Amino acid sequence: MLTREIKELFEKQASLYDFTNTFLSVGIDDLWRKRVAQSLCLPNNARVADIATGTAEVAIHIAKQNPTVKIVGLDFSPNMLKFGNKKITKFHYNNILLLSGDATALPFQKNSFDALTIVFGIRNIINREQALEEFYSVLTPQGQLVIMEFGFPEAPLFRSLYLFYFNHLLPWIGNLLVSSDHAYSYLRDSVHKFPSPEKFMEILRSVGFKKIQRVSFTGGIVDLFKAFKE
Ligand SMILES: C[S@@+](CC[C@H](N)C(=O)[O-])C[C@H]1O[C@@H](n2cnc3c(N)ncnc32)[C@H](O)[C@@H]1O
Repeated sequence: MLTREIKELFEKQASLYDFTNTFLSVGIDDLWRKRVAQSLCLPNNARVADIATGTAEVAIHIAKQNPTVKIVGLDFSPNMLKFGNKKITKFHYNNILLLSGDATALPFQKNSFDALTIVFGIRNIINREQALEEFYSVLTPQGQLVIMEFGFPEAPLFRSLYLFYFNHLLPWIGNLLVSSDHAYSYLRDSVHKFPSPEKFMEILRSVGFKKIQRVSFTGGIVDLFKAFKE
């Protein structure tokens, strides 16, 4: 898919995005995002960028856990941001600012964030290495990067059951829920095309990131990658 088509896909499904995620993951997605916020070690008054923030779910988890933090959420889909802004206004998260922008050309100065998160976003970015270089550049020297992405379970029985759900049921139910013939087939295909965890850690290393760690959740359904600039 082209970048323009990916943007259009999120623009169209924005109103149902939170609901379908919760439905298809039976609510575990919220726990995964919470783990991202918990994995950050932040100083007081830290500055955090949540890239591909979508409807700001991760930004909100970070704000809940770190009252003094200032968060900028960035996404190229104005519609996803619109739904994020509704939640931010309703629950008075005055320390979150949502901006429209592209992950491959960040509108931020070098060395300006203590942490950068991207959750279920990096897989959707065609020019992935350019985005990672941007992330590296805007982090402070002590800055940390946290990426969460879908993976596949390793335990054979769980893997077979999950693959049946993920390859067949999820695209079918997901497409039905959002009245699309491709939104959730794209999710399936993009997860299969994403590099293996080992390869992805190699890519992070090649961009310059150090102390790269990986933690898997829910038997390997998602991976959390943590890396540092120095
Ligand atoms: C699967 S959603 C994840 C949203 C959110 N992080 C979450 O946890 O629910 C992927 C998001 O990435 C955004 N996105 C994809 N490519 C992007 C790019 N190049 N620049 C900015 N946002 C992008 C999409 O608009 C979409 O909101």
